[in-house]
Amino acid sequence: MTLDVTDLRISLPRLIERIEALGNVGRVDGPKGEWGCARLALTDADRDGRDLVTTWMADLGLEVTIDGVGNAVATYAGSDPSMAPVMTGSHIDTVRTGGRFDGNLGVLGGLEVVETLARAGVRPRRAIQVAFFTDEEGSRFHPDMLGSLVYVGGLALEEALDMRAHDNDARLGDELARIGYAGSMPCPAATFPHAYIELHIEQGPVLEAEGITIGAVTGVQGIYWNEFTITGQSAHAGTTPMRMRKDPMVVAAQITTEARAIATRLGGAQVATVGRLDVFPDLTNVVPARVTFTTDMRNTDGLKLDEADQAIKAFAARMAADEGCEMTMTPLAHFEPVEFNPLMIDLVEATSKRLGYSVRRMPSGAGHDAQMLARVCPTAMIFVPSINGLSHNIAEDTAPSDLEAGANVLLQTLLHLAS
Ligand code: GLV
Ligand code: MN
Ligand code: MN
Repeated sequence: MTLDVTDLRISLPRLIERIEALGNVGRVDGPKGEWGCARLALTDADRDGRDLVTTWMADLGLEVTIDGVGNAVATYAGSDPSMAPVMTGSHIDTVRTGGRFDGNLGVLGGLEVVETLARAGVRPRRAIQVAFFTDEEGSRFHPDMLGSLVYVGGLALEEALDMRAHDNDARLGDELARIGYAGSMPCPAATFPHAYIELHIEQGPVLEAEGITIGAVTGVQGIYWNEFTITGQSAHAGTTPMRMRKDPMVVAAQITTEARAIATRLGGAQVATVGRLDVFPDLTNVVPARVTFTTDMRNTDGLKLDEADQAIKAFAARMAADEGCEMTMTPLAHFEPVEFNPLMIDLVEATSKRLGYSVRRMPSGAGHDAQMLARVCPTAMIFVPSINGLSHNIAEDTAPSDLEAGANVLLQTLLHLAS
């Protein structure tokens, strides 16, 4: 009896075993039994995670290559070497308070698909590649999606290698060499995949709230990251009259509140966050000398997003001047909204329905490597629900049945694309 590949399904226990094993690298435990991980890009923990995943790739008999910015690509050969491969993947770096699914699910889901095919003796015409891209989170080196951006030729390799870490000012290229992942494959890649499909958790509340299993992702909203430094006059908190102060903390607070006001005023999909704040000298009884903080603004509407970016910068300059402070502003990242390939979105939707899963189309609020790959090949994403909509939080979780559904949609989508 011949095997009908449309009947193939992944193994959930195997997928969960890998997710838990990788989650244990850089593991962070919370007070209520919740647990996630801290594997900031190019730290020792990231190296340990990379070592584990590349060992799994090699154990599956895949050819593993590392490129000049540390992106790893594992190839399950196809029956026709003349055809361009189909790629899946994501990232395995995390934010400092990361969960064990963000990014990791896409990479380990890809490996599970390959293991399923290998065990069944199925070899599609096109090769299937499973990739993990360097520094997707942008928590340690900006911009986010740095590895996939360089992979598609959106940022010069030399420029990326010269990026400095926010935490210790280390050079990205030196950190790559230090952890053993300064690879020799060319970056940008010499050739691009036939198509790219990424499985990821939603990281928001929509699918859970609507009781839907699969999100067929239509695109990714645009983003601006800016870093502001406000410098005032450090002074004694008890003796300095209010009218004589140049207080950068007050300016930072005004800008934070204004970011919220801009998002409320623009409405729609506009969001705005101040997520990082460094105060110097950070003492109770001292008017600060200097405050550095970031704004993260996102919108599916690129024009509205530009408006938000202009508005926050103009407001910041005005508030700093009113307080007698100096202001500098460094853009850390800017990406336009991205729309995925309509045929690829249709394929995700149709595959989900064929497998009996409820599905809806939706944009992504988070940034993803897929938005970079969309520049060079037909691309789409598969979302699965996040419990309580939480992510970038160690309490991030997804029901096992949803992990299984997402990985099965990935399997059947990849099989279709590779046939
Ligand atoms: C990346 O994960 C982002 O959306 O911040
Ligand atoms: Mn992610
Ligand atoms: Mn993330």
